[in-house]
Amino acid sequence: MKKAEQRRIVEAAAGLDRPVRIAGTGSYLPERVLSNADLEKMVDTTDEWIVTRTGIRERRIASEKEATSDLSTAAAKRALKQAGVAAEDLDGIVVATMTPDMVMPNTGCLVQDRLGARKAACFGLEAACSGFTYGLEIGRQFVRSGAMDHVLVIGAEKLSSFTDWQDRSTCVLFGDGAGAAVLAPDQDGAGHRLITTVIGANGGLADLLKVPGGGSRRPASAETVHERQHFIKMAGREVFKYAVTEMCNAGRDALKRCGLTTEDVDWVVPHQANIRIIQAVAERLKVGLEKWYLNIDRCGNMSAASVAVAFDELVRSGRVQSGDILLMIVFGGGFTWGASVVQW
Ligand code: UT7
Repeated sequence: MKKAEQRRIVEAAAGLDRPVRIAGTGSYLPERVLSNADLEKMVDTTDEWIVTRTGIRERRIASEKEATSDLSTAAAKRALKQAGVAAEDLDGIVVATMTPDMVMPNTGCLVQDRLGARKAACFGLEAACSGFTYGLEIGRQFVRSGAMDHVLVIGAEKLSSFTDWQDRSTCVLFGDGAGAAVLAPDQDGAGHRLITTVIGANGGLADLLKVPGGGSRRPASAETVHERQHFIKMAGREVFKYAVTEMCNAGRDALKRCGLTTEDVDWVVPHQANIRIIQAVAERLKVGLEKWYLNIDRCGNMSAASVAVAFDELVRSGRVQSGDILLMIVFGGGFTWGASVVQW
């Protein structure tokens, strides 16, 4: 489909009463690199197993001094700078994370204070790896309705604090990082439009991916610590299967809402959990792998930060042309899933 025709269809189908744009993006990765060779010294694994089964070669690990709010603030500053929006002008901050600094207050409040975003309402959002996409939809609806003008959406994780470094089936997968986007009204047609987002969940499968301890069901105790209940537990094979199915469904649904098909897609930014999941989804959606932006080899799975960081890296790379259709697709614990369509 021609670009001009795409734009017309997209705008009509999305019913853009008050169009919403991604005014700026930013990301932050901690300095320390943990390679597969480093992991070989920690657990019974090999670089070969990790690369062939997951596609991951290294991941970033935050320092002891860095918490999720610090990673978030660094990414947010970059996004605000690119957007040309002052922190004082933010009406809302949504921090999607499963690794908050603490249970209360929510990480959004901590970021608000660090940025000096005095008038912003602040949310913490728990949707695991799908959190950034859930956050985009919350922000989009506030801006679209006119209730807010500028919303900062962040996906940030310090997963290393919740990783069981004795469990080879999970510890090789995760990394730390943060990505952010500033949403604003697009009344002058400047582009970079967040056209639509679909989000969904199936709480019936909650047991397959969870951190069982530390909540009101199993409050922290000597026993929960002894049983390593405060770390991420995952039934990898089952999660893999659902991830492929729901990422395909979410991607197709989001495009359908805009009157588009997978043939119209110029770039896909997927959740970066496993290269084999991405390959399976690409094959089923019939979108060539050259259109998929990948950073899993460098970053591993950063949960809510994965798609946020990847999106920022892609748009800053200069490879995205004006009018390109971008599709973000996510899947995570809950289970939760979602997809967003952006026209650049
Ligand atoms: O971000 C949220 C969503 N998360 C995901 O989407 C993750 C989905 N799941 C996966 O990506 C994959 O299931 C994993 C990467 C977690 C695991 O890969 P797999 O191909 O499903 O492996 P498996 O769990 O079936 O294990 C295969 C073998 C087992 O050995 P046996 O029982 O066949 O002898 C494991 O013990 O690989 C063994 N294994 C390892 N070997 C070396 C598991 N972890 C490791 C390891 N190094 N790190």
